[in-house]
Amino acid sequence: MEVPKLRIGELTADVPIVQGGMGVRISMASLAAAVANEGGIGTISSVGLGDLERGGQEYERISREALREEIRKARSMTDGLLAVNFMGALSNVEDLVGTTVEEGIRLVVFGAGLPMRLPEMVPDPSVYLVPIVSSPRAAELILRAWAKRYKRTVDALILEGPLAGGHLGFSPEELDHSDDFALEKLLPALLDTVRPYEERFGRKIPVIPAGGIFDGRDIPRLLKRGAAGVQMATRFVCTWECDAAQEFKQAYVEAKEDDIVIIKSPVGLPGRAIRNKFLAELEQEGNKRVQCPYRCLTVCKASEARFCIAKALLTSYRGDVENGLVFCGQNAHRIQRIVSVHELMSELMSDLRTALEEEL
Ligand SMILES: Cc1cc2nc3c(=O)[nH]c(=O)nc-3n(C[C@H](O)[C@H](O)[C@H](O)COP(=O)(O)O)c2cc1C
Repeated sequence: MEVPKLRIGELTADVPIVQGGMGVRISMASLAAAVANEGGIGTISSVGLGDLERGGQEYERISREALREEIRKARSMTDGLLAVNFMGALSNVEDLVGTTVEEGIRLVVFGAGLPMRLPEMVPDPSVYLVPIVSSPRAAELILRAWAKRYKRTVDALILEGPLAGGHLGFSPEELDHSDDFALEKLLPALLDTVRPYEERFGRKIPVIPAGGIFDGRDIPRLLKRGAAGVQMATRFVCTWECDAAQEFKQAYVEAKEDDIVIIKSPVGLPGRAIRNKFLAELEQEGNKRVQCPYRCLTVCKASEARFCIAKALLTSYRGDVENGLVFCGQNAHRIQRIVSVHELMSELMSDLRTALEEEL
């Protein structure tokens, strides 16, 4: 089996690897462009950009202009494929999606919430819409609603399993039994869900699994089960090009398996992070209330939130990994060193090729 290319609509990535969007500011222009230059798809996270401390009335404008700048910067660094990732719970998501389309990005990836109205925000069919789901049931809700309301379907789906980083689409109880929701189990069920819509709309809907994919040897078992490519994020944190501070990357290198824990986020979903002073204090004190200078999440009530997720993630992104929240995937503890994106992508592709040959 040859290494397949990843096709979404008219776009083709020579390397079937998508670098997953990572907020806040972990995947911006530098990382996304480096991945795109290697033939994969690089994803800019649209969350929490710009001088947010100025906040207030200016929040929407500041976020918009910062995203525009980031997209332009990435474009100046690569001719490869770029995507922008959005969180459904963002209060200004519509504005950010509009800016992204204006800037000529053709891959809109939407997670942390069901993007029921996304086709209204992006009527242009040459911009490809890629929801992130964690279950066939969530996919079915989107597919059915879009078919009925908009007579259209998704251009691809990212299937995020329970080992992923950041916010997770599983309950804490489900995460205690993550084997029951392994990608190998979810993927065939999702492909069954998607099939009637492929037939109805007369085209392929690529499914891209994510979560816990660590090396090139993990990829063939998903390709064999019908994946069009894979999405990976944690591995890309420990690259020189990743936009986070060196301390953030080092926290991954130093993490042990039992340092990686599940937390409850003000977004209303569980999240996975590295245990640190911030989480220990939160456990002891119950909350770390802060003034909210802007309302970045529709779902977050500042008066009730246990902490400000934007501030916590920004703090760790800037390098204070004891007083901020360090999101990571379950396999972060397996990373031993920081490498270049070129080195990582070459290693992944070489292991993938070997694994595919061995299976012949
Ligand atoms: C630090 C970090 C931040 C993340 N932030 C986001 C995000 O803002 N939006 C999103 O859709 N996914 C986010 N994710 C999930 C990734 O895009 C990806 O799907 C997932 O982590 C893949 O699993 P892996 O990290 O084991 O490769 C984040 C992951 C990490 C590690």
